[in-house]
Amino acid sequence: MKKPLRFAVFVSGKGSNLHAIVDAVKKGEIASELALVFSNKPKAEAIKYAAEIGLETLHLHPRDYTNPQSYDRDIVINLKRAKIDFIVLAGYMKLLTPYFVKEFPNKIINVHPSLLPAFKGKQGIKDAFTYGAKITGVTIHFVNDKMDNGPIILQESIKVPEGETLENLTEKIHAIEHRVFKKAIAMYEQGRLKVQAARRVKIVPAK
Ligand code: GRF
Repeated sequence: MKKPLRFAVFVSGKGSNLHAIVDAVKKGEIASELALVFSNKPKAEAIKYAAEIGLETLHLHPRDYTNPQSYDRDIVINLKRAKIDFIVLAGYMKLLTPYFVKEFPNKIINVHPSLLPAFKGKQGIKDAFTYGAKITGVTIHFVNDKMDNGPIILQESIKVPEGETLENLTEKIHAIEHRVFKKAIAMYEQGRLKVQAARRVKIVPAK
């Protein structure tokens, strides 16, 4: 049998996506080994949760580094030491440097709570809601060195009904994220995602 891939999850916030990923690993929906949870924020609920359940965790503080690249260089050293094959950004609110992305080409997957390229940035749900969008959704994409910009793997849309509240919409979007993210991770580990020219991600059917 082939050895499972090892992956790291990067977090900065509450960690609801991390919870969903941990759950999927337990159920065998994700076959790879969750070998490391990394955070730029020591107090993030997500990293506390990871430590509580006995996952390997790492926190590095950006202010201890002279610039973003030296910060990312140290993270990469740690990832290589831990023999990480791919990375999942689950609410990691810090832009990766071009250096980092080059070290893991098409091996970094992000979840974004809108239908990209609409509503990039830190508040995708709120921005779509405030804009009055009638349809929004979730995007899972590979990461390149621009924010919320890499080749799209999966998207799922949701209607914003009249009278919808931001709280309710947020809950619905998170539920979609938790379902679609693990699906994309499973496709990745099975080698089913082929990044072609012109940004297109071809999804190879399951065997
Ligand atoms: C998610 O909505 C994700 O799409 C965005 O940040 C949020 C993180 O939530 N990038 P959580 O920490 O996983 O609960």
